[in-house]
Amino acid sequence: MKTAVYPGSFDPITCGHLDIIRRASRQFDHIIIAVLNNTSKKPMFTAEERVKLIKKSIADLPNCSAEAFDGLLVDFVRAKNSRTVIKGLRALSDFEYEFQMALFNKKMEPDIETLFMVTDANASYISSSIVKEIASLDGDFRDLVPEEIYDDVKLKMKEGR
Ligand code: PNS
Repeated sequence: MKTAVYPGSFDPITCGHLDIIRRASRQFDHIIIAVLNNTSKKPMFTAEERVKLIKKSIADLPNCSAEAFDGLLVDFVRAKNSRTVIKGLRALSDFEYEFQMALFNKKMEPDIETLFMVTDANASYISSSIVKEIASLDGDFRDLVPEEIYDDVKLKMKEGR
């Protein structure tokens, strides 16, 4: 069984992430969406909440699952018997950081490949940070996140105010 891991902060999952997950799910038997637990970024949602939001968003994708991870990504990928990391690229600005991470991961674990997928043009401007900013300013972010989680994000913003 070919399993790929799609890692990230997912704070929260966006339509851009979901587009990558959907397309990747057609190329692999199983996609594990891996949510980084101990991130240096101060997340708005706990890892548990982020996993929950992802699970809601992928309910119609039977070969996708989501879980939190700590530590090195390559260790998680190996523990899952996978050799593939999927990353989405939105623009040239993503490339330098992603390239550096891919090279580090390759150095630590040469058998693990990073595959880059180009984000859908309609989602190329979406990021979790933009979603949080627009939501916190009471703007309309309905088209930016999976519809299943819109109310959860809205509620979290209200609680945070
Ligand atoms: O959505 P993000 O914040 O760009 O995701 C970054 C992520 C989670 C993919 C990256 O920080 C990561 O893999 N962290 C785990 C720790 C690790 O393995 N670091 C070495 C990679 S160079």
